[in-house]
Amino acid sequence: MTATQTLLHIDASAQLEERSHTRKLTSSFIERWMSQRPQDRVIRRDIGRSPIPAIDQNWITAAFTTPEERTSSMIERLALSDQLVDEVIASDIIVMGVPMYNYGMPAALKGWIDQIARIGRTFSFDLGRGDVPIEPILSGKTLVILSARGEFGFDPGGMRAHMNALDPALAACAHYFGVAREDIHTITIEYQEFKDERYRRSVAQAEAAVSALAGQLAAHGRRAA
Ligand SMILES: Cc1cc2nc3c(=O)[nH]c(=O)nc-3n(C[C@H](O)[C@H](O)[C@H](O)COP(=O)(O)O)c2cc1C
Repeated sequence: MTATQTLLHIDASAQLEERSHTRKLTSSFIERWMSQRPQDRVIRRDIGRSPIPAIDQNWITAAFTTPEERTSSMIERLALSDQLVDEVIASDIIVMGVPMYNYGMPAALKGWIDQIARIGRTFSFDLGRGDVPIEPILSGKTLVILSARGEFGFDPGGMRAHMNALDPALAACAHYFGVAREDIHTITIEYQEFKDERYRRSVAQAEAAVSALAGQLAAHGRRAA
């Protein structure tokens, strides 16, 4: 992997850096990566601090109007979405800090995904394809999800697996950002609310895993880890 890579660094935590586990993990990942590949580029999108607005009726009308038929107000309504999509297109690796809020993703991140899922830009829709009319347009990107949660047991087989509305939802939408399921890497801190030994171990394990993953991906490319 020699060509210059572009990382899209997204933080969805509403907390400031010193209070946020996920912000610390994304910073560590980027820092480790850049120490190995200082020539690479980082696009920063802090949606925790500057939340992405929810889509509304005008947005949907604009998005589903063909580009040639859009009025100037429709073009304006889609300007943020276009910018966010351009950032995804420009990136090779998306590094996302994602806290669990009320068993799902923060509203700011759902807002970002809703702005990214754009007909004609990130997916096409054709009923001629039968039962699978949606086809992603982007491909070949890697997604690194650095998450934290107060409770534990959200992985398959865990005591709260049935309550996990975060990881499956992100995986379901990843094709809109050009990411295949096998190119999603997830590292998670659990037990944050318990503040016990399990929590301390989980933080230490996540920090070590982030450093190892950043090192491997930076050295060998997206299928390395
Ligand atoms: C508004 C809010 C909702 C939360 N909901 C959950 C939840 O449903 N399940 C859980 O395990 N932890 C929950 N937590 C705990 C967070 O996931 C945990 O504090 C995590 O460390 C937040 O990420 P951050 O440290 O990067 O801000 C919640 C925290 C907040 C602030």
